[in-house]
Amino acid sequence: MMKSSFLATLAVVASALASLELPAGIPRSLSEFRVRHPYVPRSPCRKIIEIRASANDTDDVADDFLQALHKANHGGAVRLPKGKTFMIGKPLDLTFLGNIHILLDGEIKFTNDTPFWQANAFRHPFQNSIMFWKWGGKDIKIYGEGVLNGNGQRWWNEFAGLEILDPTNNYLRPILFYAENATGIEIKGIHFKDSPCWTTFFVTSKDISITDVACTAESNNAALPKNTDFFDSLNVERVSIERAWVNIGDDCFSPKSNATGLYVNTMYCNGTHGQSMGSIGQYAGEMSFIRDVHIENMWMLNGQHSARLKSWAGPNVGYGFIDNVTFKNFWNANNEYAAFLDSCYFNINASACSTYPSRVNVTNVTFENFTGYTSGKYGRTVVRLTCSPNAVCENIQFKNFNVSSPCGGQPIVICDGIHGSIGIPCVNSTSLEATAALKDTCTASMATLPNATPW
Ligand SMILES: *[C@@H]1O[C@H](CO)[C@@H](O)[C@H](O)[C@H]1NC(C)=O
Ligand SMILES: *[C@@H]1O[C@H](CO)[C@@H](O)[C@H](O)[C@H]1NC(C)=O
Ligand SMILES: *[C@@H]1O[C@H](CO)[C@@H](O)[C@H](O)[C@H]1NC(C)=O
Ligand SMILES: *[C@@H]1O[C@H](CO)[C@@H](O)[C@H](O)[C@H]1NC(C)=O
Ligand SMILES: *[C@@H]1O[C@H](CO)[C@@H](O)[C@H](O)[C@H]1NC(C)=O
Ligand SMILES: *[C@@H]1O[C@H](CO)[C@@H](O)[C@H](O)[C@H]1NC(C)=O
Ligand SMILES: *[C@@H]1O[C@H](CO)[C@@H](O)[C@H](O)[C@H]1NC(C)=O
Ligand SMILES: *[C@@H]1O[C@H](CO)[C@@H](O)[C@H](O)[C@H]1NC(C)=O
Ligand SMILES: *[C@@H]1O[C@H](CO)[C@@H](O)[C@H](O)[C@H]1NC(C)=O
Ligand SMILES: *[C@@H]1O[C@H](CO)[C@@H](O)[C@H](O)[C@H]1NC(C)=O
Ligand SMILES: *[C@@H]1O[C@H](CO)[C@@H](O)[C@H](O)[C@H]1NC(C)=O
Repeated sequence: MMKSSFLATLAVVASALASLELPAGIPRSLSEFRVRHPYVPRSPCRKIIEIRASANDTDDVADDFLQALHKANHGGAVRLPKGKTFMIGKPLDLTFLGNIHILLDGEIKFTNDTPFWQANAFRHPFQNSIMFWKWGGKDIKIYGEGVLNGNGQRWWNEFAGLEILDPTNNYLRPILFYAENATGIEIKGIHFKDSPCWTTFFVTSKDISITDVACTAESNNAALPKNTDFFDSLNVERVSIERAWVNIGDDCFSPKSNATGLYVNTMYCNGTHGQSMGSIGQYAGEMSFIRDVHIENMWMLNGQHSARLKSWAGPNVGYGFIDNVTFKNFWNANNEYAAFLDSCYFNINASACSTYPSRVNVTNVTFENFTGYTSGKYGRTVVRLTCSPNAVCENIQFKNFNVSSPCGGQPIVICDGIHGSIGIPCVNSTSLEATAALKDTCTASMATLPNATPW
């Protein structure tokens, strides 16, 4: 009896996995991704400045780099050639840029003197962020086949066991790429590697374009590369991300307060917390919003949530809205939920959440053409949407939704507090169907791509 139901479960899992090979033509590794989406080098018709490379991992060329940017500013380019490493060992204020190219074919790498950086890095009050450098100005292009290396291993080792959003945490880690007050910033081709904390953070900036990039944060031990989000922002307009390969330890694409006009097309997110709108509504008294977002052609595997919206609840938080978001063509393999609306962020228990519910409205959200399977962590529940009783969630629509659970049986969608139909059947979390589905847990094996990834 036991044995045959075990075998039946295995068969279900095996058939789910077998049917979920990446379709033909979809890259299975970074090298295949590069073949399909090559970075085509261009030779700028501009004055080119080069600097000496570092002789070793403590040979800081920050001053040389800064000087080169000053020389190349307003019409020139700084070239960092292939095969060379450029160590940066002190914070750089690069907010003076205008009409400049950076040809990054070599590697820019930050020193890992953690106490030095913690004492000297730039700071931003949002979630207590620190940054190696600040980029800003107008018409900045960074492109090439090179690497921006945050040298994160030591940071992850020393941070192990801590929580970034714990108000008592004072072990801060720098963001790998930070821009503020930038208009027209284009990043193409490069590999963002091993950021200590968030990989990119754009503040009060517009016309941001990131294409054909890889972003990885991989630890060589048990200390996880935590909070290494690929994309975060505050107060941005017109962002376009196309073709990114991401293997990091937190949100894949995650605009925070005040974002409009976001377009994302073709990303691979392995082991992430998903394509996350927010969190927003964190700070007391502050209104924040995310509006007009289109995300399509996502390959989401081995992560937490696939499409996610999250807003803060609690006694001292803000308010706002998320409106007009489309999540389209999401391929899921082994993610906890295929879609998740969380109005009880962050780390707040059910009673505190119901005493101080979120005041973030969620409207006009479409989930279209979702396929694949979840991880079984939440049993047969494949989607969970929880709207706050203190906010409005309406016109939330699912179309062409076909995500199964590796546990077999009827997949269940949980919805609480949503106005109107969501386009597919759903039950509330206290229903018998939901309680049974949540209990029916199982596990799926790690979704793999046939070839080993080369990084
Ligand atoms: C690193 O290179 C610099 C510059 O060449 C040199 O002064 C320094 O001694 C080197 N340090 C080590 C540890 O090799
Ligand atoms: C933002 O950049 C513009 C030029 O692009 C400049 O005039 C302005 O002073 C900058 N603002 C801040 C706060 O840095
Ligand atoms: C977001 O926009 C609102 C309304 O304009 C403003 O009050 C708030 O300060 C902004 N927040 C950020 C982080 O820019
Ligand atoms: C919704 O957002 C899309 C961009 O994703 C935009 O083209 C469209 O105009 C927006 N709709 C409304 C009603 O503003
Ligand atoms: C949320 O929706 C309610 C009801 O429509 C509205 O009164 C409130 O202003 C909205 N909040 C925001 C921040 O837009
Ligand atoms: C649905 O999404 C899958 C990838 O997740 C894609 O291959 C397929 O073409 C999409 N279907 C439609 C009708 O767009
Ligand atoms: C929920 O969290 C609040 C605030 O942290 C705490 O005071 C309360 O004891 C917690 N309740 C339960 C049931 O854990
Ligand atoms: C939702 O979309 C409709 C139609 O585009 C628009 O009229 C409405 O204002 C949107 N809802 C909110 C709360 O913005
Ligand atoms: C849903 O996906 C499964 C494969 O996971 C497929 O066998 C089935 O035909 C799909 N159903 C619909 C209605 O597309
Ligand atoms: C949840 O669903 C069950 C079963 O449909 C129903 O009896 C119950 O009243 C619902 N609870 C809420 C809070 O809507
Ligand atoms: C996904 O991430 C896990 C953990 O980092 C790794 O072991 C696995 O090789 C990755 N898979 C792909 C396809 O990159």
